[in-house]
Amino acid sequence: MNKQLLLDNLRCIPDWPIKGVNFRDVTTLFKSAEALKEISDEMYELYKDKGVTKVVGIESRGFVMSSALAERLGAGIVLCRKPGKLPCETVQETYEKEYGTDTIEIHKDAINENDVILLHDDLLATGGTMKAACKLVKKFNPKKVYCNFIIELLKEFPECRSQFDKDIEISSLL
Ligand code: PRP
Ligand code: ADE
Repeated sequence: MNKQLLLDNLRCIPDWPIKGVNFRDVTTLFKSAEALKEISDEMYELYKDKGVTKVVGIESRGFVMSSALAERLGAGIVLCRKPGKLPCETVQETYEKEYGTDTIEIHKDAINENDVILLHDDLLATGGTMKAACKLVKKFNPKKVYCNFIIELLKEFPECRSQFDKDIEISSLL
């Protein structure tokens, strides 16, 4: 993988949205055709042989690559959204994140026991969002759950990965 290409296209904004947060702005990665292709190719290589049936994208920055990846993998896409956006019955989880609390939800009929799930988000920080998403998805008893991120803030949150259930396979590009 051309890591440098991705790093060169990633914008960091200090003290946004609040003081102390060094915000990794993936919009600059997404606007570069070369970086976008690199991310898509790398993610496809990681999951092409895993039998993924559904990619679950986390609102909102997680939606971008989830849709590209689902199409390439021949999988469906499920939207994991902030509250009040999905029109039918949902299952919900509330969680803590780097700057505040939030709730996410998935339609009750979105996943079944035969699914192999790939959860995708742009970034892993405290892990609050993805741990809540994993909890949600596990309520459906899928065959297997994978988690993928473009960026993982390992140095800032070194304990984060160890807080996930051990049966969940996690990978990140940067
Ligand atoms: C960001 C990011 C992840 C989450 C990561 O989303 O896209 O979803 O925070 O942080 P965590 O690991 O501490 O939970 P945000 O809630 O800012 O929403 P957005 O994608 O809609 O901007
Ligand atoms: N979500 C949570 N923490 C973040 C960060 N530092 N940069 C971008 N998105 C984030």
